[in-house]
Amino acid sequence: MLRSIAPVLVALAAPAHAQTLAPRTDGVEARAGALTLRVTAQTDAILRVRIARDGKFPEDASWAVPASVRAKSVRVTPLADGFATPALRVHVDPATLRLSVDDAVGKRITADLPDPIKLDGTGFTLRKAMPVGEQYFGLGDKTGPFDRRGASYVDWNTDSYGFSPATDPIYKSIPFFVSVGGGGSYGIFLDNSWRSWFDFGHREDGTLAIGSTGGPIDYYVIAGPTAPEVVRRYTDLTGKAPLAPRWALGYQQSRYSYMSDAEVREIASKMRQSQVPLDLIWLDIDYQYHNWPFTVNTQAFPDLKKLAGDLKGDGIRLVAITDLHVAAAPGKNYAPYDSGKAGGHFLHNSDGSTYVGPVWPGPAVFPDFTRKASRDWWGTLFKAFVDDGIAGFWNDMNEPAIFETPTKTMPLDTVHRVDSDDFAPRDASHAEIHNVYGMENSRATFEGLKKLRPDDRPFVMTRASYAGGQRYAVTWTGDNNASWEHLRLSVQQLINLGLSGFSYSAADVGGFTGGPSPELLTRWYEIAAFTPVFRVHAAKDTPRTEPWADGPEHLAIRRRFIEARYRLLPYLYAVAEENARTGDPIMRPVWYDYPAARTAGCDQSMAFTLGRSLLVAASPKPESPRPYDVCLPAGGWYDYWSGLPVSGDKLSETPALDRLPVYVRAGTILPRQPLVQSTAQVPQGPLSLDVYPGKDCSGTLYWDNGLTVNGATLRQTIRCTQTASGLTIDFGAREGTYKPWWKAIAVTVHGWQGAATIKGVATSTNATARTLAFTLPDQPRAARIAVTR
Ligand code: GLC
Repeated sequence: MLRSIAPVLVALAAPAHAQTLAPRTDGVEARAGALTLRVTAQTDAILRVRIARDGKFPEDASWAVPASVRAKSVRVTPLADGFATPALRVHVDPATLRLSVDDAVGKRITADLPDPIKLDGTGFTLRKAMPVGEQYFGLGDKTGPFDRRGASYVDWNTDSYGFSPATDPIYKSIPFFVSVGGGGSYGIFLDNSWRSWFDFGHREDGTLAIGSTGGPIDYYVIAGPTAPEVVRRYTDLTGKAPLAPRWALGYQQSRYSYMSDAEVREIASKMRQSQVPLDLIWLDIDYQYHNWPFTVNTQAFPDLKKLAGDLKGDGIRLVAITDLHVAAAPGKNYAPYDSGKAGGHFLHNSDGSTYVGPVWPGPAVFPDFTRKASRDWWGTLFKAFVDDGIAGFWNDMNEPAIFETPTKTMPLDTVHRVDSDDFAPRDASHAEIHNVYGMENSRATFEGLKKLRPDDRPFVMTRASYAGGQRYAVTWTGDNNASWEHLRLSVQQLINLGLSGFSYSAADVGGFTGGPSPELLTRWYEIAAFTPVFRVHAAKDTPRTEPWADGPEHLAIRRRFIEARYRLLPYLYAVAEENARTGDPIMRPVWYDYPAARTAGCDQSMAFTLGRSLLVAASPKPESPRPYDVCLPAGGWYDYWSGLPVSGDKLSETPALDRLPVYVRAGTILPRQPLVQSTAQVPQGPLSLDVYPGKDCSGTLYWDNGLTVNGATLRQTIRCTQTASGLTIDFGAREGTYKPWWKAIAVTVHGWQGAATIKGVATSTNATARTLAFTLPDQPRAARIAVTR
């Protein structure tokens, strides 16, 4: 419950500002003219700012921030001009409603400019200062420069087939950014679903302008002081991405479309023959009858259940596309239309007739996803497919995309019914709902799958979404292009998605449109092998992009990188589980964990970390054979491939097609597993732990069955310490009851020189590789292994 007290507002004309601020137990309220500003402390470090026009605050409801989270607040200490929390000092000028936020020692975090609130009809613009040197990231997968300073963006979910690195808006609206480099990292999240904008000094130098065409003035200021704290707190508000099924981290093969049962089987068997590990094959729209969602073209796919069952026997699962539009096919025995129509589940025109728009099936109708009853109905449509063994679902075209209209979407006066969460039931225009429509579509799918298979972790992929959409679905960047600039753009898009809460992200490997050169495709495989979701996908009538498409040499390189990913699964899975708890992205900008990297000097636009421990340093010009510089953060690194320590913090890399530079932080204990062809296979042999001695040396094991929610888990921290006589490795006590697949642990200590003894354990050293290796029985209990030279 919000512990609000009735604000005692003093006469507007009162001259002394202290009189016009109304303290609240959780913040402050101020009125100037027709506007009332309310700033409340949700937590010590998260402020909610709401502005009422004509004294009336808009409805306190949100698609992004659950009611239980919005209801949280903390008691503040009143100040003459605002209030303080243990972390922040908030100042409000009652004459202008100018807001500024400082940290506890008075360092400015963010401040409004003079004349901070401009109203324009139903719209508004907020103006804030942009200190020199402050950089801005986030806003989902928007294109443009990686640092958003100097650029301007619109949030309006748009089907963007063939977008360029400058196209805006594209598919998603995540109205949240994180700033770094100023007085301390902070974030701003504008919780407003209408067409909105963020201008980072593009129109007016030094002015950060945030606005919308309508809806509530309702935003959060999220303090750090570090960027990770901002991102974690943003996900405290909008939700964490739940841990995905482990197979979602495997290699995924897609194409628009694998046209028949026979073609899908052929792809599967070619993968197995070529010994390319694979977990998922995706079915695009052609598996359906006439592109009607929730149907099957039974000529091409006579027995989907058998296909799914046979592939599963080979460790391969199927994901099927289920676009949100329902074919407008009355009288055709098409249950999604008939039951949707009978239940009143489709959107209406302003004259009350059902809205019909053309998409893949031809004329289509559109479910009312902001209505809980309609979401529940939608969720039931998956039953037959779930029963057939389809493992996951792909919600595409949910901006929503409409063909044959210049706006690419439905009319703004299309009527939605809002009947959900803590919104008061009412009709709403498409102008209001557009940006949340795709998220609510993926929510309906996610919640439907949870009901159909309560024990399983749902897997949904969505193209359009809004802030908080990470709770329901993974996402990808849509219809990119087979070009080097899109490969570069994809790295930036996935990093920014991660900073925006969407930690499970993909870009079509190889590019959707066009057709990649063999070199581009191979490079893309290499880089994507270290990104959260690794899916190869391409448009109709484009060259094939399966791993073998360009002959044995390219196949060998691509396979090697896919294999590297499968070996890394214990690490990747632990990073994903950490993400589910903390909100720390899986794929991160290097400066996330190493703030100094932001100003290190090298072009790091193609560098990223996977968790804290692995740094992937692709060439900023991946098409160029020229050497490039890699800046490594202080603290020491090892080469991932050779295992050798790297000296210096600036390296010159000479590109070679078969090499992607990857480094391991000194101080990492990296868990890996024997190679498997699918996550469904039980690895044979010991778990490997590669120890890279350095400061703060640790590693985490996290494992479970990879499939269900609330199952048994296993968690264990392992630490290492360099001692005068050698090295100790400390296994912490294992938490949880999950019984792992490994019976033994193969330890390799890197950077080792000289002899080594461990009491009761045989060791071997390799002077060239500078390794020390030994095998231990599994270590479920706290134990210390002491290595002496
Ligand atoms: C859209 C999707 C693309 C898909 C195609 C056919 O263009 O973005 O990934 O292959 O529709 O369903």
